[in-house]
Amino acid sequence: MKEDIKEVLFTEKELRARIKEIGKQISEDYRGKDLFLIGVLKGSVPFMADLMKEIDIPCTMDFMAVSSYGNSSKTSGVVRILKDLDFEIEDKHVLIVEDIVDSGVTLRYLVDYLKGRKPASIEIACLLNKPDRRTVEINTKYIGFEVPDYFLVGYGLDYAEKYRNLPYIGILKEEIYK
Ligand code: IMP
Ligand code: MG
Repeated sequence: MKEDIKEVLFTEKELRARIKEIGKQISEDYRGKDLFLIGVLKGSVPFMADLMKEIDIPCTMDFMAVSSYGNSSKTSGVVRILKDLDFEIEDKHVLIVEDIVDSGVTLRYLVDYLKGRKPASIEIACLLNKPDRRTVEINTKYIGFEVPDYFLVGYGLDYAEKYRNLPYIGILKEEIYK
């Protein structure tokens, strides 16, 4: 896998340090509130696993699966729900945990969809943000890092379902997906 990576952007150590800060912030912001974490499968899994351990207030968690990409490196703009929540979120303080915000289409759709279930509040924590690619407006309360417009893999991020298990985040060599 390593030979397919052009450059490492964030090492495992850097990721863990930043996630620790975000977890602390979330714990402060939601203390005394009914926090409900929703991870977006499958990309958010490593982020969720590390983030939840840095949150020191009681919380519940659940996962959703959506598809917007297929096996391409460009978004199709069409969002489908493949797995819905197992629990009700009414009156809960929902925090969606996502790997990366790119066009914003996926999260815009998810937020609007979940708002219909009357949560007390709904916010987003994303590990990476690619602001240059945004096509729809989306408010992200917690952001790990701003990243340039490259196709990134590792730490949950995939290309055609590969590279999710890399412990760091790197830029995928163009010849792999061109
Ligand atoms: P959006 O709907 O365009 O914001 O796309 C969000 C989703 O696209 C993310 O949850 C990722 O699964 C995927 N994605 C966007 N950019 C990248 C990338 O650089 N590498 C891997 N997946 C990406
Ligand atoms: Mg994703």
